[in-house]
Amino acid sequence: MDYINAEQTIKKLLLKEQKSTAFQKIVDVLYDSFEKYNWVGIYFVKGNELVLGPWKGKQATEHTTIQLGMGICGAAAKTGKTELVDDVSKDGRYLSCFLSTRSEIVIPIKKMNVVVGEIDIDSDMSAAFNKSDVIFLEKVADMLSQHI
Ligand code: SME
Repeated sequence: MDYINAEQTIKKLLLKEQKSTAFQKIVDVLYDSFEKYNWVGIYFVKGNELVLGPWKGKQATEHTTIQLGMGICGAAAKTGKTELVDDVSKDGRYLSCFLSTRSEIVIPIKKMNVVVGEIDIDSDMSAAFNKSDVIFLEKVADMLSQHI
């Protein structure tokens, strides 16, 4: 699926699904639509932690809660800026989840400029994420923020 179709599918899911099922279905759409998205999860900010919500991937992560400021996820939550890491082995902040991961992108979900959650995607490909992924995923994060 391409970015435009995926965006339309996600928009429709948010309109017709209950909040409790929409987020899992959106994670599934992201994972199923792009071969390079090898693990997709949504974390929610609860106090000074990120708590894992819906996810899809071959394996579960041990990082189901992450302190704000820790790892790439915690960094994005703290600064409110998208984190794009082309080579996770060269980023000292990286919290390892899967041996196969080469690159990672984390997109904050913001409500009135406050980070309320984030989309975290791991890829088994180095430098898997480009400008189109950033634009697309920031749009998705924006759509999700209206439903948190
Ligand atoms: N790698 C992340 C931790 C979450 S797992 O990728 C699912 C990080 O460095 O914050």
